[in-house]
Amino acid sequence: MKIAFIGFGGVGQALAKLFIRNKEQLKKQYGFEPTVVAVTDVMKGAVYHPEGLDVAKLLDLVQKTGNVEDYPDQAGLVKGWDSLKTIKEANADMIVEVTYTDVKTGQPAIDHCRAAFEHQKSVVTTNKGPVALAYKELSELAKNNGVYWGFEGTVMSGTPALRMPETALAGNEITEIKGILNGTTNYILTEMEKGSSYEVALKQAQKLGYAEADPTSDVEGYDARYKAVILANYLMGEQLNAEDVTCKGISHFTSEIVDDALQEKKKWRLIARIKKNDKGVEAKVQPEMVEESDPLAGVSGATNAIVYECDLAGPIMLTGAGAGLVETGYSLLIDIINFQRQNI
Ligand code: HSE
Repeated sequence: MKIAFIGFGGVGQALAKLFIRNKEQLKKQYGFEPTVVAVTDVMKGAVYHPEGLDVAKLLDLVQKTGNVEDYPDQAGLVKGWDSLKTIKEANADMIVEVTYTDVKTGQPAIDHCRAAFEHQKSVVTTNKGPVALAYKELSELAKNNGVYWGFEGTVMSGTPALRMPETALAGNEITEIKGILNGTTNYILTEMEKGSSYEVALKQAQKLGYAEADPTSDVEGYDARYKAVILANYLMGEQLNAEDVTCKGISHFTSEIVDDALQEKKKWRLIARIKKNDKGVEAKVQPEMVEESDPLAGVSGATNAIVYECDLAGPIMLTGAGAGLVETGYSLLIDIINFQRQNI
């Protein structure tokens, strides 16, 4: 499988490391070898080789110099391509789209997905923008061009919040989805329960790589809101926009608010709810005080949890990592393996 990385930050590098770590398993168990033919990153430069680049060398270079352009010259090596040129011209079957993308506009990831599909190339991405803002257009474009689009990591990173209901819960009608979908805010809330201040906990969440580049998106609930849109549109067949989801965050939270809840044997959690009704669905994100005995109260740190209310299976809860570089890199690997399975 020939792969091009568009964006090569923490998540992209985490996936590249998994290619090295899981090389034998991918070959033996899944029957393929990932060959990275291109890497293009606005900060780190670009390299392309139609026969493949040495991933360990690339990672080493990035570690040492912060860019990929000094990759040792060899016949066929092309340097300096931009992202769209790489998508269009590299001989890749699979575009790993992990650019720094503004979730409000979804760009440049939306343009990257569009260009890839128009050139009959599959895409895996962890960027929420293309799925939350342009799901209908892009999924149709992928389908019409006969290519694959994977975005498991957009909700709950490597925890299969999209694939699990789609496969294991097939045949049910999902009437409600609720959950803790943002790792940063859950980390902040549980650190505050242990006595930390809001500011210190937020800084730590940024340091641990949970928070978005602009953490406003986390603490104001926007990140969870985009995830709610993805869940509603992908799993419930709705066509929600972010504005359809009422949204309140935790940026106003003080130690006093958190402690008062603890006194009452309750805990604050930022909860997203998507509920079917006669008109379609109602979706909201807001802090809720939950009883200590509620399973959601037991979800701590950057862990996420989601409950699917199913007409046949009843409530099914899934909990696991919601953020983190390795976890998000792994979500791309799940999609790539799935792509491979569909192609054999
Ligand atoms: N900033 C996000 C979070 C990362 O904290 O959950 C995963 O989408």
